[in-house]
Amino acid sequence: MRLDRFLSETTPLTRSLAKRALKNGEVTLNGEPVKQSATRVDIERDVVKFNGETLTLVGLRYLMMHKPVDVECTARRGLYPRVIDMIDLPKVERLQPVGRLDVDTTGLLLLTDDGQWSHRVTSPRHRCAKVYIADLGEPMEGEAAQAAINHVAEGILLDGEETPTQPAVLRFLAPRQAELTITEGRYHQVKRMFAALGNHVNALHRRSIGKLVLPDDLAPGEWRELTAEEVARF
Ligand code: URA
Repeated sequence: MRLDRFLSETTPLTRSLAKRALKNGEVTLNGEPVKQSATRVDIERDVVKFNGETLTLVGLRYLMMHKPVDVECTARRGLYPRVIDMIDLPKVERLQPVGRLDVDTTGLLLLTDDGQWSHRVTSPRHRCAKVYIADLGEPMEGEAAQAAINHVAEGILLDGEETPTQPAVLRFLAPRQAELTITEGRYHQVKRMFAALGNHVNALHRRSIGKLVLPDDLAPGEWRELTAEEVARF
């Protein structure tokens, strides 16, 4: 890896500030001052120091967060704070949400900079189950509830789409509260599925993704790194 890139990956410096730090003699490679940005670094063997501090590459990162309401999953700054603004880690902007939640949706959000892992979790081909709890505007009971359960199990043609949703599982916890398990992540999918059933969602919470359940002790806004075992579940 080039030295300027190594610096930009291991410090808050941008690539151009890294080049400047090199020119200013602030960087040593195996104890020797080095000024050329294109110098190659062997990340297994070489010791790079910036102002005397040894630098190490951060590996791939995997986080879970209890997303609160009024926080956005997008990378650009907008009306609301972003989830990455709540995470105090270097190079946090590299972390991407693994399947976004709407600004008013709460619950389990995964973040990573590992694109392949993210794909395994989100790609409909892998049929990773996501469980949502929806508070509904209208009560659904008896035959209407059963008809909704059957419709969801068969697949629903959402407004403006050409292929029905993958078979999903709907369970009523109360007339106005339902648990919906889906294996895709289409745009506003849960809200649009309930809209297709003639209802609407007042509040939405993601309880789990695959075998990963939002822990009770992770309060809204809190996050933690996944364990290696949790990462390996996908
Ligand atoms: N489906 C939705 O409609 N919204 C979400 O935030 C997640 C799934």
